Amino acid sequence: MFDTVLELFPKTSPDYVTIKDDPIFNPAIHLSLELPTSAYRLQDFGYNDSILASVPTEIAATSCFRVLSDEGVAALYHVCKQLEAFTTSNPRISRNVRGGVYRSKFLRDMCLDPNIAEHLSAIMQTPLLPIAMPHQLGHINFQPLTIGENVDKWHYDTLLVDTVMFVTDPNTMQGGEFQYFLGSRDEMAVLRYNQRTIPTERIIAPDMPGAGYAVLMQGNYVVHQAKAVQDASERITLVNGYSYGDLSTPDYSAIGQLMHADAPKTVTAEYVRHIGLRVARQLQSAIQTPDFQKAPAQHVEFLRQVRDQLDSAIEQLTQAEGEKMRHFGD
Ligand SMILES: [Fe+2]
Repeated sequence: MFDTVLELFPKTSPDYVTIKDDPIFNPAIHLSLELPTSAYRLQDFGYNDSILASVPTEIAATSCFRVLSDEGVAALYHVCKQLEAFTTSNPRISRNVRGGVYRSKFLRDMCLDPNIAEHLSAIMQTPLLPIAMPHQLGHINFQPLTIGENVDKWHYDTLLVDTVMFVTDPNTMQGGEFQYFLGSRDEMAVLRYNQRTIPTERIIAPDMPGAGYAVLMQGNYVVHQAKAVQDASERITLVNGYSYGDLSTPDYSAIGQLMHADAPKTVTAEYVRHIGLRVARQLQSAIQTPDFQKAPAQHVEFLRQVRDQLDSAIEQLTQAEGEKMRHFGD
């Protein structure tokens, strides 16, 4: 009776209305997984050995690769148009939908899909798991209602790894590019502090062949932005978050930042389950396959490491509210 199965997605939810016409996600029909042809490494962005040692892969940002079939794009677009009724704003983004995975089973099943996760793991050369904070799954950006206003400012993400996928065709609009800064977060901070413009040769706009194509990146290290649409076109993108399966990688969840985007009660409930699941995964080996050869001091050290993560989560939560939203402007 104690052999519990831990759920990646919670069985409860905030009080969210579901969409009316939700297609059924079918990976055999909706996916068309392809590989990127190139990738930047963390070193290309100027990150040093201490950063490289803290994450399980050097791959920082890939070229654009196909994820969805034409049927997948049509179904996701149909879902996004219904979710558009629930857009919210924050100091960075004028219109986004968060928590859409609670409102649409299609979106939830797509964002949690193991075929996609396995595919992305192969690209990153390290196991990736859909993130356990549902508001960090399936984040959707819509173009601002004012033509010429950037979709999202220069920033780095509140999580370690994510995909950014175009739901609408990026080639039928004026502007609306997704761009990376080919440099580190610190370099961008110095540029902005000194009120310098970003050298154009260091701004990379990956080629986006069409709707249903995505980039995969270490969003916490790759500074990026989404440019304004310069005509009346619709621009919809979907950002999906992942965690490293390698639990020796320290967690990064920018809780204080998320409280600008989501209700603090929701952020807290999701973060506590995210950390809870992480710690449970770590404790699993001690429960299922205890190591009888280890010295007692090693077991103590193991428990201390687990406890340290809970202590650090408690500290983050107690300091989270009132943090200023970080971004590097337009
Ligand atoms: Fe981002």
